[in-house]
Amino acid sequence: MIEIVRELDELRAQVGAWTRAGLRVGFVPTMGNLHPGHHSLVRIACERADRVVASVFVNPTQFGPREDFARYPRTPQADADGLAAVGCDLVWMPSVETMYPFGATGAVRVQVPGVTDVLEGAHRPGHFDGVATVVARLFNQVRPDIAVFGRKDYQQFAVIQYLVRDLAFPVELVGAQTLREADGLAMSSRNQYLTADERPRAAEIHRCLQAMREGVLGGAEVSAVEADARRRLESAGYIVDYAAVRTAGLAEFDGAPSGTAVALIAARLGTTRLIDNLEFEI
Ligand code: PAF
Repeated sequence: MIEIVRELDELRAQVGAWTRAGLRVGFVPTMGNLHPGHHSLVRIACERADRVVASVFVNPTQFGPREDFARYPRTPQADADGLAAVGCDLVWMPSVETMYPFGATGAVRVQVPGVTDVLEGAHRPGHFDGVATVVARLFNQVRPDIAVFGRKDYQQFAVIQYLVRDLAFPVELVGAQTLREADGLAMSSRNQYLTADERPRAAEIHRCLQAMREGVLGGAEVSAVEADARRRLESAGYIVDYAAVRTAGLAEFDGAPSGTAVALIAARLGTTRLIDNLEFEI
């Protein structure tokens, strides 16, 4: 039986009892509207921990003023049912008031330097401050031994690794592979915004990421590979925020690329903004 918890003292009592009993607690933070990609994160947590908590909280501080906070899909009952089916023990569903007792504007903010300035950070000012702010709170509330995040949000995972190391959170981080639809489209809650006409074109992002990898491996200049991907996406009707090849640490390549690389794309198809990435060895 899955427990749905909305009060912090109840969450602490339950997780505290597990921890005192010597059980390892796994954690999967989410914004709800869960799909098989999220369920795979819960399965990974179940393999590595004795009890698993998932949070469902649409975090207002990570949405920009013109972003989709109000229309972000909220499906709490379906989320709880799906989580129960994959073996999650507890769903943490705090209200905005519980998460931010002084309100979103009065909240203590966590700001991660450096990695937050580029790519997603440059296109969504304040977004990663909101993510770091809520993840720090969630870690303090849940106090997990391990936490599982999807690698689809590659830069978010880098921000959280930095946060955990710098603030010495006693939590082990696990980055899980992206789950994809049959045509390669990365699973995302935002995919449901795509129209019937847009949906087939949405897989172009994954094909472009593969082409970027092949281009770099074939010896092309990173800047030429990036420009080709941008052109290809634009001719498929996208407005491109970035199409970039970076080091694993998200730095620009200095001279000939070598080591682990990641190709990253963020682009809009109609009103839907999609992001994806592909890691590879050079
Ligand atoms: O990846 C997400 O769904 C969110 O950014 C997270 C980590 C749950 C924080 O709100």
